[in-house]
Amino acid sequence: MQSNPAAQIVLPTGRTPEPVYRSFADRGGSLADATIMLLDEFGLPPRSHARCDNMLQRDLLDRLEEPPARLLTWNTAAEDLDAMCADMDVEAQRGIDLVILGIGGNGHLGINEPGTPSDAPSRVVELHAETAAATSRYGAETAPTWGVTLGLGPILRASAVWLLATGAHKAAIVRAALEGPIGSEVPASYVRRHENAIVFLDEAAASDL
Ligand code: F6R
Repeated sequence: MQSNPAAQIVLPTGRTPEPVYRSFADRGGSLADATIMLLDEFGLPPRSHARCDNMLQRDLLDRLEEPPARLLTWNTAAEDLDAMCADMDVEAQRGIDLVILGIGGNGHLGINEPGTPSDAPSRVVELHAETAAATSRYGAETAPTWGVTLGLGPILRASAVWLLATGAHKAAIVRAALEGPIGSEVPASYVRRHENAIVFLDEAAASDL
């Protein structure tokens, strides 16, 4: 990130990136010239602890000396959610330099749940039960039923993709994504078709490979 400070970068939230963000901030990393786009958002009230925008604020932005040059988040209160998502795709079309991703226990990327085709645009999505339940780990009092996400299409058109996974609870899905068939059943498997993708795993997440 520091070698191209004016980059357009898409960032995830959740447990996996939090230590990366802490370490980036502790080392004095700066995003002051970068455009940061949030990867996705849950249909939760603005102040919910589990909203991705609030997580990004707490886990990364509050730790930086300066805010990013531009911050693009998802307005889940928009009257026309489809138009709001289309606007995010227009932003993505300006050229995303790097998308950083976590992987869901069911293989989702962002909130591109299993069954999503690889060219899916950004859109409103229904959360799978597992994804909805996982939000309690982020402090959601009531589980969301829907969300909005950057589509697999714009994710896979980014110049670079980094997929991060940590912990033994991710080992089985990491194996399915990296060694199983490439297809919509495990959306994370599509990163293998990207010509500039890097997968970062800790030992536990890599233990089934
Ligand atoms: C979060 C996101 C999700 C998470 C995934 C893993 O913005 O897009 O796809 O990356 O659910 O979550 P954690 O890291 O909490 O295990």
